[in-house]
Amino acid sequence: MKKVMIVFGTRPEAIKMCPLVKEMERSPLLETVVCVSGQHREMLHQVMDIFDVKAKHDLDIMKQGQDLFDITTEVLTGMRRILKEENPDIVLVHGDTTTAYAASLSAFYLNIPVGHVEAGLRTYNMDSPFPEEFNRQGIGLTAKYHFAPTQTAKENLLREGKEERNILVTGNTGIDALFSTIRENFKHPVTDWAKGSRLLVITAHRRENLGHPMHEMFRAIRRIVEEFPDVKAVYPIHMNPKVREIAEEELNGCENLRIIEPLSVDEFHNLLNASYLILTDSGGIQEEAPSLGKPVLVMRDTTERPEGVEAGTLCLTGTSEERIYETCRLLLTDGKAYGRISRAQNPYGDGKASRRIREFLEGILA
Ligand code: UD1
Ligand code: UDP
Repeated sequence: MKKVMIVFGTRPEAIKMCPLVKEMERSPLLETVVCVSGQHREMLHQVMDIFDVKAKHDLDIMKQGQDLFDITTEVLTGMRRILKEENPDIVLVHGDTTTAYAASLSAFYLNIPVGHVEAGLRTYNMDSPFPEEFNRQGIGLTAKYHFAPTQTAKENLLREGKEERNILVTGNTGIDALFSTIRENFKHPVTDWAKGSRLLVITAHRRENLGHPMHEMFRAIRRIVEEFPDVKAVYPIHMNPKVREIAEEELNGCENLRIIEPLSVDEFHNLLNASYLILTDSGGIQEEAPSLGKPVLVMRDTTERPEGVEAGTLCLTGTSEERIYETCRLLLTDGKAYGRISRAQNPYGDGKASRRIREFLEGILA
């Protein structure tokens, strides 16, 4: 039986790869082996526990203050050992993290075909997001098969010279995950606390925003929360100590804003569903929010998700305090603008992306 190895290492990769692992494990034609880098630790295992996915291999590389050299070299050499031991017929990586890049490079060096899930997203700006734009273009060079979430992503790949027969438009596997988590009767201490208020959900972690941009983002949010008495905000904070330091400095003592520990993915999805508005610099949330009909202020200078901007659900604000504050203020005061956004269509998939990838792999391997 042909062997498929699925590799991931951070929270968002896990959220988008676990539905694929479950789907692949149902295949009578292919054997699936899961390998995690452990680039994230608690935030990774939180997701794997929810989806009940077990890794056969865990490089367990995470350390406090890890830099891009640490992640790249440890994954690259760690994967050499595991790939030699397992000798898979194909390696699947996801998206744009350094785990995905280094794992794909490792497979490439050993002449093992790579399949790239969530292929073809681009800003064509190497500084934004950093280093993710480099990572995904690099993975694109190593990959033989490209699973593009949208037609726009496929067109990027075609323009770069990838062969059409090796590109499959699948939808985003993150939407597969979302279909399994949302429930009607969701209850949580945060939704109890925010009852009767408009709830803002906040996340922020991007490397290029650590420092001045993140200070500006948090100042804008604080102004909003202090100005609107009917608004409450919740911020499930990333575990990066650099993020926590800035949040502590800017958001401490803000009465209607709660900073909480990272939520499990099912809780987080349901919290998004219960929210009025989302402010984020995250990638995955830009796909989930349109599916739930929630407006998103994307606190970044660029986005690789233009479909959400075209659909009207994503609004790119940049990171200046004034711009974030003004845009958020507008959405809180102009019901018509808000209504237009929350009725926009979801361009990111129908929840069947993993099935399309499984069928494709069965077709080429089995
Ligand atoms: C990484 C990815 C980024 C992705 C993000 C998702 C790279 C270069 N960056 O960035 O593309 O958007 O994950 O969240 O691949 N930490 C913990 N426990 C955890 C996770 C993180 O303590 O479970 C702390 C550690 O101190 C760690 C730090 O966070 O050193 C930073 O983690 P790292 O993976 O290097 O960067 P992220 O900003 O999470
Ligand atoms: N998420 C989660 N718990 C949280 C915050 C976010 O499960 O407390 C999920 C969210 O639904 C999305 C993903 O984590 O699917 C986004 O991860 P992150 O922002 O860390 O990374 P990015 O998507 O920017 O790479």
